[in-house]
Amino acid sequence: MAVVSSAHSAIFSKASLFHHINGFKRFTFCLPFSSSAAASLSTKKKWRQPVASSVLELGGTKIAKDDVVRDDPTNNVPDTIFSKLGMQLHRRNNHPLGILKNGIYEYFDTNYPNMFDKFDDLCPIVSVKQNFDDVLVPADHVSRSYNDTYYVDSQTVLRCHTSAHQAELLRGGHTHFLVTGDVYRRDSIDSTHYPVFHQMEGVRVFTPESWEGSGLDPTSFAADDLKKSLEGLAHHLFGAVEMRWIDAYFPFTNPSYELEIYFKEKWMEVLGCGVMEQEILKSNGRSDSVAWAFGLGLERLAMVLFDIPDIRLFWSNDERFTSQFSKGQMGVKFKPFSKYPPCYKDMSFWISESFTENNLCEVIRGIAGDLVEEVTLIDNFTNKKGMTSHCYRIAYRSMERSLTDEEINDLQWNVREQVQNKLNVVLR
Ligand code: DAH
Repeated sequence: MAVVSSAHSAIFSKASLFHHINGFKRFTFCLPFSSSAAASLSTKKKWRQPVASSVLELGGTKIAKDDVVRDDPTNNVPDTIFSKLGMQLHRRNNHPLGILKNGIYEYFDTNYPNMFDKFDDLCPIVSVKQNFDDVLVPADHVSRSYNDTYYVDSQTVLRCHTSAHQAELLRGGHTHFLVTGDVYRRDSIDSTHYPVFHQMEGVRVFTPESWEGSGLDPTSFAADDLKKSLEGLAHHLFGAVEMRWIDAYFPFTNPSYELEIYFKEKWMEVLGCGVMEQEILKSNGRSDSVAWAFGLGLERLAMVLFDIPDIRLFWSNDERFTSQFSKGQMGVKFKPFSKYPPCYKDMSFWISESFTENNLCEVIRGIAGDLVEEVTLIDNFTNKKGMTSHCYRIAYRSMERSLTDEEINDLQWNVREQVQNKLNVVLR
């Protein structure tokens, strides 16, 4: 298998939210669907299928479906995303994500006995303040847009990274902690991107006694310790691999780095990290301290460690997948049960100003679910009148069975209809 290079730890993906230097791409406050479509919502048929009301228990909080999915322009959480809340794949000991989480715990427990507090059940519904403000994400950062983040209402989101919990845990007096959780991002569709994935965040705080006498300034002291700890973690997971540190940018750390390893003949990003911005420590009762922090995407690493070729497989209940993994068995190679053929369908339309690829992908996932493998822009032109046409190729493929022509035609028919109705585009 080729090493997953573009993958979704999302920290590092093409849609990476936080790691561009000056990565404040053009920011448009973009509602999930066009406002005219939103207006027609209340009068015409609802897009959302009624789902039997269910109550979830998330991190000790009871959540009903209509707490999260609402017909309101400040809400862009679809049913497909609600259905993932509470699945907590990272808490299943026989699942590759749980096995990987436990493998990382093992590294910290062995090297820092009884030091790190572990959290893997914090509620993924957080405030805009927790997700963005508390970790100094600028007010105009693209990651705050409705196009990139799932909003429950204007002040509440599905966390898009586990960094959302840094501030509350620091305030709670924790100085060494690991937070694992499901995170949510609106994104395009391919074998390494899925709108729900899993991250682990690590933080270690040092008080002045730690660096006094080291001959180092506090920032260099923390940066050195960070690098040593994470090189150790990468060795623990990948064996004796070559590594390199790349300078990076994150709003919450300074300096910031990415760790890359040379694996299967390619450099691969493993995680993002850095020395925590002093302002975060100061705001949370730790002005005398320094700290390091890191964040890593579990899917990205698990795809490489277990040879898992498609990110949708993590969600599979097919026994031919689930039975291949068991507790403590890190890095067992996945044996594909069979590769079913893909089926490609193209669709072209004139886009409107509000069109975004993330919105398109959400509509397609809403209909085809995990049967859609990839959505690719294959043609893009603007005519003399200034109208822009996009042609997308949709690859349908099940990981578990062959799809019939009829089934795919039905899906594609529905996709065409809903894309036209919801996205304010004109099919060609
Ligand atoms: N939150 C970042 C992301 O999702 C990952 C990250 C980078 C976390 C650097 C950190 C850090 O704690 O120091 O892209």
